[in-house]
Amino acid sequence: MHGQWSSRWIYILAATGAAVGLGNIWKFPYLAGEHGGSAFVLVYLVCVAAIGIPMMMAEVMLGRRGRQSPVNTMRTLAKEVGVSSQWQWLGISGTLAGVLILSYYSVIGGWTLAYIVKSAMGTFTGATGEAATNLFAQFVSDPLTLFFWHTLFLVMTMGIVARGVQGGLEQAVRYLMPSLFVLLVVLVGYAMTTGFFTTGLSFLFTPDFSRLSGTSMLAAMGQAFFSLSLGMGTIMIYGSYVPEGTSIAQTSVAIAIADSLVALLAGMAIFPIVFSQGMQPEAGPSLIFETLPVAFGHMPGGLAFGVLFFILLLVAAWTSSISLIEPAVTLCVENFRMTRRTAAIWCGLFTWVLGLGTVFSFNIGVETTLFDMTFFELLDFLTSNLMLPLGGIALAIFSGWLMTPQVSQSELQMQDMTGYQLCKCSFAFWLPLRCSLFS
Ligand code: PHE
Repeated sequence: MHGQWSSRWIYILAATGAAVGLGNIWKFPYLAGEHGGSAFVLVYLVCVAAIGIPMMMAEVMLGRRGRQSPVNTMRTLAKEVGVSSQWQWLGISGTLAGVLILSYYSVIGGWTLAYIVKSAMGTFTGATGEAATNLFAQFVSDPLTLFFWHTLFLVMTMGIVARGVQGGLEQAVRYLMPSLFVLLVVLVGYAMTTGFFTTGLSFLFTPDFSRLSGTSMLAAMGQAFFSLSLGMGTIMIYGSYVPEGTSIAQTSVAIAIADSLVALLAGMAIFPIVFSQGMQPEAGPSLIFETLPVAFGHMPGGLAFGVLFFILLLVAAWTSSISLIEPAVTLCVENFRMTRRTAAIWCGLFTWVLGLGTVFSFNIGVETTLFDMTFFELLDFLTSNLMLPLGGIALAIFSGWLMTPQVSQSELQMQDMTGYQLCKCSFAFWLPLRCSLFS
């Protein structure tokens, strides 16, 4: 039997838990740094508002209508509207994208675990940017260490998935996510004391269109999908538990705002430190692991703050990891009659082996590249920049062109006129949905 979230709030919390993760705190700042700051941030925000929110509504709508794993939801809905059952491939590619993303997400989750220990041992006390950079370089150069933390992170994630105790985790998220938010604000407070706060802010927010390129726009769009967990079925599954009568539009807007706010706060905390330490904004995936230790090494109570921060980041990473693997596990349970436990073990094993490619991308495999990208970079490009946006577009075509306006209108429950007008504006950017809703 398919359950339901007990309330609209629990749904918002769970979906925000899935959305807020390493993508906001680890990935957003480093991508912004690599792609010239403000131009990237602007395109990202436009993508969240114009594409992300309508797309999230479409995905929740499909999920609530289908109420199964993404693959079976797509198959059922395709039958309902009388189109080819090949639409199930949309679910299959999304499910695969989740597994591929988790394989590297788990390695970075492992870094977070390791950094909890490092902060607790006082490793960052008095650290300069240079010291933190060296510490990180040394850390990732050892494949065995990364192997260990990746394994631990994945075992912890799959343990929760296997026992299906997401319910307990949601309760934890209720208190821990707001705490993470507060700590980020504290870090922004520290950033204000570096003397480079305005430099950081202007890097992030003063539009410089000369830095816009095709690559940076694709990266910004990919990040909008990644950060909101769109285009791969996670939101579809979470949407499938949404009780009737919950406004899909309002909840989607709330989730998108919370998610973007966390990313922007992370950027505002990190870039002033980057500039104050004479570090490079283009550092890449190592960025937060090189900058935040400087903050924790200098601020009063930094040791405790550091430990707490990395613990909260770990929880955020966990809630996202669980949602990444959920489509695959649900599929195995529904179609291969596995128990949840067996499904979790198989999916976990597959993800773990794949993750080894990312483990080695930072040390012995750093020279092994394809199209000038390491295994990790290739996987990230393939999923965030191709699979998620293409999946999202296909979902929009399905919900916009193939589902009847009656169905989408009744699912979206747009009696409320202000909300309706607001959506009308945002849908205007998104032709397929517009065609369906306003024809
Ligand atoms: N949105 C998550 C993050 O920002 C990652 C994620 C992507 C989770 C896709 C589920 C699906 O960390």
